[in-house]
Amino acid sequence: MSSKLHCVKLNDGHFIPALGFGTYKPKEVPKSKSLEAAHLAIDVGYRHIDTASAYQVEEEIGQAIQSKIKAGVVKREDMFITTKLWCSCFRTEMVRPALEKSLKNLQLDYVDLFLIHYPVPIKSSVDESPLDEKGKFLLDTVDFCDTWEMLEKCKDAGLVKSIGVSNFNHKQLERLLNKPGLKYKPVCNQVECHLYLNQSKLLDYCKSKDIVLVAYGALGTQRYKEWVDQNSPVLLDDPILCDVAKKNKRSPALIALRYLFQRGVVPLAQSFKENEMRENLQVFEFQLSPEDMKTLDGLNKNFRYLSAEFLADHPEYPFSEEY
Ligand SMILES: NC(=O)c1ccc[n+]([C@@H]2O[C@H](COP(=O)([O-])OP(=O)(O)OC[C@H]3O[C@@H](n4cnc5c(N)ncnc54)[C@H](OP(=O)(O)O)[C@@H]3O)[C@@H](O)[C@H]2O)c1
Repeated sequence: MSSKLHCVKLNDGHFIPALGFGTYKPKEVPKSKSLEAAHLAIDVGYRHIDTASAYQVEEEIGQAIQSKIKAGVVKREDMFITTKLWCSCFRTEMVRPALEKSLKNLQLDYVDLFLIHYPVPIKSSVDESPLDEKGKFLLDTVDFCDTWEMLEKCKDAGLVKSIGVSNFNHKQLERLLNKPGLKYKPVCNQVECHLYLNQSKLLDYCKSKDIVLVAYGALGTQRYKEWVDQNSPVLLDDPILCDVAKKNKRSPALIALRYLFQRGVVPLAQSFKENEMRENLQVFEFQLSPEDMKTLDGLNKNFRYLSAEFLADHPEYPFSEEY
């Protein structure tokens, strides 16, 4: 990253832009929308893009980045690109090939951040996540500490600048941090975090270990039918959030993002709409008072939109712990 403006320093000395653009898309949305959105996101000023092999849009994200580099809009070093290792590639011999496949899709020599997507291994296969006869994933037994060693090797090989985890609870982080021979600490833990699940305990734990908490679902998720209960509360319609928004003359989405930023969290925000993309970048332009922060703290109800039930049978399922 060339600009340090609105960036957060990671524990390995690199900087992460304090707002990221999310690229998950539900199955029914065509990939062309992801390509268009990534073009727009870079044009309006996003420099931190969050993707994953599991989202199946790395090629589109790569095309958008390359075309913006060719057009002189950005340089590679201006961009901060995150991708993730899917659960079916935990076996040590599969990690680097999986990363190399992501790099090829993204048309990049390196990514800025590479994450273990979940602490739960699924039976191995580079291209698929095998299902049992009931349509559930076949779970595996690889220890994520062994997988981590391969991420460390990928960093040493220059294929990634920083390495981290996603969806780890504090006990799993603790186990990784206490791993004998640990070479690099995870720089971040990317987890669901928003006004209804403010993650105060996990955030305190991460801060105490110099690990950045990156928030997904910061706006209450896209409410994709496949994964989110359609009866769950709509975060951005919350009446108290809407009152705070009115008082501050900002939208509920901006208040939801600013609340996280002021607590030292790096939020991700997804949108396919240019006006929303532009609006979300205003997160750095205003401040919430301590009273408003307290009011917003009161909205927490430890409510999770994405409980990853498909992994719930595994002993490493992360969301049975309080935090
Ligand atoms: N590590 C993991 O396991 C994991 C899991 C889930 C997600 N993620 C990452 O986190 C990213 C963000 O999560 P997410 O995609 O579920 O959704 P999100 O960012 O919480 O919410 C996206 C939704 O908010 C709406 N929105 C955005 N800006 C708005 C604004 N200014 N005003 C009103 N509405 C606005 C969008 O509406 P429109 O439809 O109108 O654009 C979209 O439906 C993902 O894309 C992905 O990169 C990671």
